[in-house]
Amino acid sequence: MSYDLDQFASDCRAILERDPGPAGREQVRLKLEQLLANQDFIEKYCGEHVPRGLTVLYEDPDLGFQILAHINDKARVSPPHDHGASWAIYGQATHYTDMIEWERVDDGAGSDQAKLEPVKKYRLLPGHAGTYEDGKIHSIDYPDYARFIRVTGTNLDNIQRVRFDLASGKVHQMTPQQAT
Ligand SMILES: [Fe+2]
Repeated sequence: MSYDLDQFASDCRAILERDPGPAGREQVRLKLEQLLANQDFIEKYCGEHVPRGLTVLYEDPDLGFQILAHINDKARVSPPHDHGASWAIYGQATHYTDMIEWERVDDGAGSDQAKLEPVKKYRLLPGHAGTYEDGKIHSIDYPDYARFIRVTGTNLDNIQRVRFDLASGKVHQMTPQQAT
């Protein structure tokens, strides 16, 4: 039988209970790639019939991590942003996402003004997943109909996050689910 959402959620739980740090997250990333290889899963949760928007597929009652489906029809470019004190793993379901990872080259947190430099650029293709550790800054750029599955360490709506305006350098607090 193909690897399905229930198995993935229970594997995430077992892995993160044992090791919530970067090594555990890497195991979750690999399991997510296994899930994305299941075409029945892709059709059921990311297919044409699925309602558009953001759906929570699973939230762990004890560990707090979430598995989310981002079902997009329209292309989007996000500003650089972090995931606050959480990590996030992005797994591509359909089409692709161009990722840029950024680093602050000013003297850092606390200021409402930042200077960012891109440090890594790559395209996430279907079946592949990338991890963004706590506090890492990235931006995403995807075409129409790009869909992805995201696993976050916690519900990001409950934590403080920031986004960066590249033109002005301004740092903005993010509102719930304002960007991915
Ligand atoms: Fe993000």
